[in-house]
Amino acid sequence: MIPVPPNSGGPALAELAVIGPPVEAFAWLSPRAVGGARVRRGLLVRDGEGPRAYFDACPHWGTPLAAGAAPQLHDGHLLCAAHGALFRARDGYCVSGPCEGASLRPLVVDRLRRSLRIRLPDGALDSGAEP
Ligand code: FES
Repeated sequence: MIPVPPNSGGPALAELAVIGPPVEAFAWLSPRAVGGARVRRGLLVRDGEGPRAYFDACPHWGTPLAAGAAPQLHDGHLLCAAHGALFRARDGYCVSGPCEGASLRPLVVDRLRRSLRIRLPDGALDSGAEP
């Protein structure tokens, strides 16, 4: 069972170690009204600027940035392998590529005593329908 701090919003999507690779992929099951649960993917960025997390869904076509793996950090940016969009790791903003000006959808990272708990932003729904 994942410990939930008081006043911390929705349920945990994942709980990951404080120390780990600069970018770590994770996944969770999101319920859908029709068709059962859907696997959703996220990325945790640990680059020394404080942990941040995003849905692993490129705003261009909604695909993961690196199919089956976590994307590498390149000079503070995440690359989408599909068509080359480049996202700033610190805020998920796309600085170049076919979705320039769009952003990765952020997730919330709560720092617990020995781990990082990832959850949806307060008030956000995870219907499994959107990318
Ligand atoms: S799907 Fe990411 S740039 Fe096209």
